[in-house]
Amino acid sequence: MSDITLLAIESSCDETSAAVIQNGVILSNIVAGQEVHSKYGGIVPELASRAHQQHIVPVVHEALAQAKIVKKQLNAVAFTGGPGLLGSLLVGVSYAKAFAKGLGVPIIRVNHMQAHILAHFIDDPKPAFPFLCLTVSGGHTQIVLVRDYLDMEVMGETQDDAVGEAFDKAAKMLGLPYPGGPLIDKYAALGNPLAYDFPHVDMPGLTYSFSGIKTAFLYFIQKQTKLNPDFVAQHLPDICASIQHTLIRILFSKLHKAVKETGIHRIAIAGGVSANRGLRKTLEEEAAKHQWETFIPSFEYCTDNAAMIAMAGHYMYEKGLFEEWTFSPEPRLKI
Ligand code: KG4
Ligand code: ZN
Repeated sequence: MSDITLLAIESSCDETSAAVIQNGVILSNIVAGQEVHSKYGGIVPELASRAHQQHIVPVVHEALAQAKIVKKQLNAVAFTGGPGLLGSLLVGVSYAKAFAKGLGVPIIRVNHMQAHILAHFIDDPKPAFPFLCLTVSGGHTQIVLVRDYLDMEVMGETQDDAVGEAFDKAAKMLGLPYPGGPLIDKYAALGNPLAYDFPHVDMPGLTYSFSGIKTAFLYFIQKQTKLNPDFVAQHLPDICASIQHTLIRILFSKLHKAVKETGIHRIAIAGGVSANRGLRKTLEEEAAKHQWETFIPSFEYCTDNAAMIAMAGHYMYEKGLFEEWTFSPEPRLKI
């Protein structure tokens, strides 16, 4: 049988990434981040598109060079079709189409959220089906029932903000640069998770909501700072540990419900926030308590990367799931 070799491109948010996969094995995964947003406290979409445009050519060349693959070996080009920022997606989609057209190979449109989950099939151990995946990123918070590589159902998701956004906004209120999630994680490791309590409303069923906790946190910081202007500086680790603990508690309350509803004890986490050490530790503790079999991706495959797009592309190629040339990016693409 001849090799299946794909180039994959990811550009949905603020990381420009390209990867090469051969017969389901990742040969390279190049990721270029965008420093430009940190001083604005969040992603500026127009700046993100421009940075993608600057990065995409060198990133793709580096991915091919590192994989020791020449263009004519490629069988198809996979790309993120959505969800994501329209301008960012446009750069990757246009580049992928032009690249594939020039080579005379088909294109494969990958769903970014499905790809986060399929990152679990890059390395061992790989989860058996079915499993539940808590997908937590800057734009999404979902509990997904994964029946097969390309057969997934969203059981519950957030009705407003994503948990990654809650991490980033909390960090911003503490004067930390964007993206603040990893910094909350860092300071939380040094603090007491039970130091402060933040009220939040429990949504019905498997629906998440993180907008209320964001407001509660803002009021808390404002009130404490009025009493003591140095409150944040003096108590940063305890504040970070407490907000992280609350966010994780919310995530797990719904996850437990999903386990109960489905009877599935095979649990995976995916997306940028799955890099959080507090979340990983809680998952291990809950797993030990409830006899769950857990799957935690390696750090490099938690945040946005093209290796996961390549993995999804590989399974779609095997099924002949190619995209039309007329495809336009879908910022709100659903699983
Ligand atoms: O999956 P991702 O790279 O991009 C999206 O698809 O959104 O996720 C980015 C999100 C950001 O909100 C970032 O702050 C968060 O993941 N994040 C973390 C950590 N690492 C990344 N949040 C908490 N703790 C971390 N260690
Ligand atoms: Zn993502």
